[in-house]
Amino acid sequence: MSGRDRERGEVDEGESLLEVRNLCKYFDNDGGLFGGMTLDREFPFVSRNPSTVRAVEDVSFDIKKGETLGLVGESGCGKSTLARTVLRLLDPTSGSVDFKGEDLATISGEPLRRKRQDMQMIFQDPQSSLDPRMKVGPIVEEPMRAHGMLDEEGREARAKELLEKVGLDPQHYNRYPHAFSGGQRQRVNLARALSVNPDFIVCDEPVSALDVSIQAQVLNTMQDLQDEFDLTYLFIAHDLSVIRHISDRVAVMYLGQMVELADKEELFENPQHPYTQALLDAIPVPDPRSGGRTNLLTGDVPSPIDPPSGCRFRTRCPVLIQPDEFDMSDGEWSAVVEFQRAVKRREFETTNRREVRQQYFEEAPTGDAGTLIDDALSHISDEEWAEAEALLTESFADASVCATDEPAYEVSPNLGDGRHYAACHRVRDAAVASGAAADLDAPGSGPVEELGADD
Ligand SMILES: Nc1ncnc2c1ncn2[C@@H]1O[C@H](COP(=O)(O)OP(=O)(O)OP(=O)(O)O)[C@@H](O)[C@H]1O
Ligand code: SF4
Ligand SMILES: [Mg+2]
Repeated sequence: MSGRDRERGEVDEGESLLEVRNLCKYFDNDGGLFGGMTLDREFPFVSRNPSTVRAVEDVSFDIKKGETLGLVGESGCGKSTLARTVLRLLDPTSGSVDFKGEDLATISGEPLRRKRQDMQMIFQDPQSSLDPRMKVGPIVEEPMRAHGMLDEEGREARAKELLEKVGLDPQHYNRYPHAFSGGQRQRVNLARALSVNPDFIVCDEPVSALDVSIQAQVLNTMQDLQDEFDLTYLFIAHDLSVIRHISDRVAVMYLGQMVELADKEELFENPQHPYTQALLDAIPVPDPRSGGRTNLLTGDVPSPIDPPSGCRFRTRCPVLIQPDEFDMSDGEWSAVVEFQRAVKRREFETTNRREVRQQYFEEAPTGDAGTLIDDALSHISDEEWAEAEALLTESFADASVCATDEPAYEVSPNLGDGRHYAACHRVRDAAVASGAAADLDAPGSGPVEELGADD
């Protein structure tokens, strides 16, 4: 190890380059002159509702040197916020981000600036991230200049060399960004990120704005560069085929939390979390191995200002767990869940008791559950929606273990020997039966305390 390596805290291949633990990032929307203000129809016409957006909550994971961790999830689930907080472009609310043995959450000023040389970011929109008034050469040289790397001649030589490495012509050094296609601009961004010789690059939807035909070419270049420059990637995408192309491991996020994390093949072939299963089912290519799963996602993503208790996916989960006090068949329980969610959304064309019952309950539950459904139907026929909603929510949805306990489990993988984390109580129930589950015993502790401990 050279003196410079020691100074930069070099990490060996396969060791953890990044260890994120219990990371939270909240945004307060009560700042500023009109922060948290809402307009009302009645006097005093304006009310103040300061609120906190819990964009990233209790997220833990590792990234090993040389690997690509893919990060996937619906729009607004917190992928970019997580990435920016990891890089300390945003200050974490709590938690730690250990990068090459130093907690980024606790440093600032010059030490942080020096660390930034090792961590670069590439954004989705290659157009807006390049200054249109600057030529490509100086754009690529800019980070080197900021970190005092090389002299002018050396920077120019390195910029030209990097342009070639990313698949551009070194003669393009004197061109302006507008002369390039989207794919070429993203290659300029790659050269720029590489210029300071980083270890770690966060790629936030880097190919999402490109034509599908160009995406694979840019992804292949990124993989070649990873091998050549010994890079580690955190790669964000909403497109699962892109994630499958580039990742070694994949993390799935939902509403600010990580719900599943496993080796790529394990995740795609043996998904455990109902949300991951739904995402995979939504891929338009028919997969004969899927066994005809039809867990298509319905309902809106809840607000990160007031996320659901327990499992955050529970308000949309197609396989919510029945509370212990009931003993309904699967069909009866599904009907109850569908009915409760429809009442919450006030989704009825009629309030006629007999018609509503017919619409939702081919198999009507009996016993206590049946009595509760009857009471809710009475409220609906009297147009007492709030009462019907409260009764159903309290008796069924909020009584589920999915609402009362936050899930965090590790399961035995079917493929390979990597670790498989899934935040779903069903995983525990299924794996306990086979003796495979390890309850992390730390609700929300995320993908495994001591992930790297026995590696
Ligand atoms: N500066 C901010 N102030 C308040 N809320 C914010 C801020 N930045 C992000 N958010 C909120 O945090 C949540 C996560 O946003 P984020 O941009 O991280 O999601 P994302 O997964 O990257 O989405 P996309 O796929 O659309 O890029 C959203 O609810 C968003 O509205
Ligand atoms: S914990 Fe419950 S609500 Fe959450 S994914 Fe699992 S079954 Fe669905
Ligand atoms: Mg984003």
